[in-house]
Amino acid sequence: MIKYNLLINNSIIMNKNIIILGVQWGDEGKGKVIDLLSKNVNYVVRYQGGNNAGHTIIINEKKIILHLIPSGIMHKNVKTIIGNGVVISPNNLLSEIKELENLNIKIKNRLFLSTMCPLVLEYHIAMDLAQENFLKKKLIGTTGKGIGPSYTDKISRYALRIDDLFNKDIFAKKLKQIVDYYNFQLIYFYKSNSVNYKKILEHTLDISENITKISIDVSDFLYKARKNNKKIIFEGAQGTFLDIDHGTYPYVTCSNTIAGGALTGTGIGPLHVDYVLGVVKSYSTRVGSGPFPTEIFDKYNLHITNKGKEFGSTTGRKRRVGWLDIIFLKKAIIINSLTSLCLTKLDVLDGLDTVKLCVSYITSSGKKIFNLPIKQEDWNHIKPVYEIHPGWKENTCGITNILNLPQAAFNYIKRIEELTNINISIISTGPDRNNVIILDHFL
Ligand code: GDP
Ligand code: IMO
Ligand code: MG
Repeated sequence: MIKYNLLINNSIIMNKNIIILGVQWGDEGKGKVIDLLSKNVNYVVRYQGGNNAGHTIIINEKKIILHLIPSGIMHKNVKTIIGNGVVISPNNLLSEIKELENLNIKIKNRLFLSTMCPLVLEYHIAMDLAQENFLKKKLIGTTGKGIGPSYTDKISRYALRIDDLFNKDIFAKKLKQIVDYYNFQLIYFYKSNSVNYKKILEHTLDISENITKISIDVSDFLYKARKNNKKIIFEGAQGTFLDIDHGTYPYVTCSNTIAGGALTGTGIGPLHVDYVLGVVKSYSTRVGSGPFPTEIFDKYNLHITNKGKEFGSTTGRKRRVGWLDIIFLKKAIIINSLTSLCLTKLDVLDGLDTVKLCVSYITSSGKKIFNLPIKQEDWNHIKPVYEIHPGWKENTCGITNILNLPQAAFNYIKRIEELTNINISIISTGPDRNNVIILDHFL
């Protein structure tokens, strides 16, 4: 018997600061959910990643993919902020701003970024591609956007950052040293093409003012916002298992994608976050290489790929697809201290005879385990153990009331809650902003 209550007209009054992040390998539908909930807040703040992210928003059949600009930008009363944890390609940021302005979305006074963001420049992209080429079959499958090398510079303490753009002489000097260092590696180690110092210098300085004029002290800004009782969404990019520390290393991205990243990536303290919403697909996907125990190779792959349109928003690559993995999900709940889950793409499972949930693994020695192996090398050898549930034939796309879901779909949701011991508070039933069920235990 369905016993959930629906929020009247899906309307919400949010009085909490909330982190919204992916709890799988990215592309969970974060963009859609953040856009949806942004109408209730004052600020939306990105805290990590770069233009490797692709966050899709669909409003009345119009599709917008954001890479650097936070997903709250579609709501005119919302200001968007990019925290120090994000690496910035000046080129990409400016072209994204232009694209939005061409759609009559006002950006002026609505987008700010931290002076501490490291830059992504041409040599990072050259290095990303050279490194992948060098790894051959063992490649990570990066987005090729230079993200890893830019974060490497940051950790190595020689990154060029937004604040370096304020002084052209200092910038020129630092850039020369870095380009020499990169070119040495590109030419002699990677046997690849070098990059041109003068070209990068001139181009970057040409456009630098457009970036410096919107740069601010983000932690100070957020402190004041908090004092004035403003409401904030912290927007994650990628997903929990692409986290540099907690993910399926080395098949990860180079930032802290988990909830903790919202603190270091913006300069807010841990007590300033009231809620952590984990976005999870009704199944799993990942792009690029790395362990994926529930990956599907049978007829269900085609159904999910086609119905879910599982092709990367940034690179267009076909995403690998799999069943929902409860073991990974439970780990994500712990790492991120999730308050509740938002389950997306339920409609993609419509029409399947059965749906599966991975509830344990069998190791190569035949042992049944209920946790992730502690050694990375074992991740490739575990076999999933599934619970098999009846599917549903009915169409769930666009359903906004939980009472209208087919019983089998409802049972599937309920079983995920039981296995993970956490509430599913939002269910996304289609790509459009309005295809959603929000339950009264969301806030
Ligand atoms: P993000 O990176 O987490 O923001 O996700 P992406 O935008 O890369 O990928 C999610 C894809 O699923 C996009 O094409 C969305 O339009 C789409 N999407 C989001 N929620 C739903 C849903 O509930 N149902 C369906 N069918 N598509 C959805
Ligand atoms: P959103 O925010 C899915 C993956 C790449 C690769 C690995 C490292 O849209 O969910 P990188 O270029 O970051 O060094 O690549 O991480 N990856 C993503 N996969 N969604 C993303 O972002 C991703 N960003 C990076 O495919 O496996
Ligand atoms: Mg994406």
